[in-house]
Order: sequence, then C-alpha cells, then structure tokens
Amino acid sequence: MTPDLFNQLARSRRSTFPDQFDRGRKVDDSIIKEILTNATWAPNHGKEEPWHFTVICNDGVKKFAAFQSELYKELAGDNFKEITYNKLQQQPLKASHIIAIGMKRSSNKNIPEVEDIEAVACAVQNIYLSVAAYGLGGYWTTGGITYKEEAKSFFGLGENDKLPGFFYIGHIAIPATGATRKPIEEKVTWIKH
Ligand SMILES: Cc1cc2nc3c(=O)[nH]c(=O)nc-3n(C[C@H](O)[C@H](O)[C@H](O)COP(=O)(O)O)c2cc1C
Repeated sequence: MTPDLFNQLARSRRSTFPDQFDRGRKVDDSIIKEILTNATWAPNHGKEEPWHFTVICNDGVKKFAAFQSELYKELAGDNFKEITYNKLQQQPLKASHIIAIGMKRSSNKNIPEVEDIEAVACAVQNIYLSVAAYGLGGYWTTGGITYKEEAKSFFGLGENDKLPGFFYIGHIAIPATGATRKPIEEKVTWIKH
C-alpha cells in the first residue's frame, strides 16, 4: 500500500446499484468473509464492536425479498404502493450477497448510542472500500424496512439495537459514472493561529 494507491481507492470507490450488477454472477463467500473481516477492523469506542452483520445469499435472498416486501405491505397502510412492493421483491434478486447491517447497542452505557451508530458507519465504509478493492460493486441502502422495529428480530437484533440498512454486493456489469465532489475548500476550515 502507498498513499497514492489509497488515494486512488478512496476517490474511485463508487456506489454501484442493483441494476448495474451482473445478475446471476456470484461473489465467492470467501471474499465476503474478507470484506466483513475488514468491516470489523473499523474504529469503535470502548472495544465494544457494536455491529452485527447478517449475510444473505443463495436461497436466502428470496427469503429476504419475501420478508421485506410482506413487512412493507403490513406496515404501509394507506401509503401502500404496488411499485414499492414489487421493487422490494425484485431488487434483492439482482445482488450476489446482501449484508444486513446491524447496530448492537454497547453494553457500556457510558458510550452514547450515537457513537455505536458512528462505529457501524465506519465499518460500512470499510465494506465500501473493500468491495472497491476487489473490483466489485455495491452500495448502502436505507430504503425498504431499514429502521423498522418489526424487522429487527429477523436479523438477530434486540430492542436496544438498530437496523441502519443493507449493503448490496455484486459483480459490476455497468460501471458507475459521473461522480463529483465539491472542492475541499468549501468543506474544510483550518485554524492555524
Ligand atoms: C447512510 C447512507 C444511506 C444511503 N442510502 C441510500 C439509499 O437508500 N438509496 C440509494 O440509492 N443510495 C443510498 N446511499 C448511497 C448514496 O446514494 C451514494 O453514496 C451517493 O450517491 C454518492 O455516490 P458514491 O457512493 O458513488 O460516492 C446511501 C449512502 C449512505 C452513506
């Protein structure tokens, strides 16, 4: 690793969405394990490692698709939209693996909850970078049943835990284009004196 290589990785990492995946082409489980190992090396306050990942693949994808679409139907009430229901059924089938991102609340209650959430976000960034390093595509979605209390137990999460979303992974068929960032001068202030 060199700074140049890392700069390139950090800046070229892109979100790649399910419609851009090479549908049907599977990522090796061994690579998913490496990616999740990197996730667990994220910084976290008090060595609490406040994350739990559920890997969804093979026939598990259909089970997940059915679960999230049916839960959506159950909870949506008057806001129910057929298009959303169908999307929740179909999007997962385009991925090789889906990682349900769980936040397990630290047992040390001196650690504010927001810091557990922050640590999980750091872990997800490691997933993003790892996926890019392997030449794979993926993205973090907070759509569907994200944050739903009723969804948590399906992913082994308890009352005090959170479900901050899902990370979809697949081989890339259509690469992402057109990413931009504002100049850092708009986002960075220096205090030197
Ligand atoms: C916390 C978080 C939640 C996100 N949720 C969604 C989402 O629900 N749907 C989506 O299309 N993209 C989602 N994204 C991905 C963003 O769309 C993506 O990061 C953004 O477009 C910038 O593109 P880049 O990741 O290629 O730099 C999310 C990203 C983050 C960090």
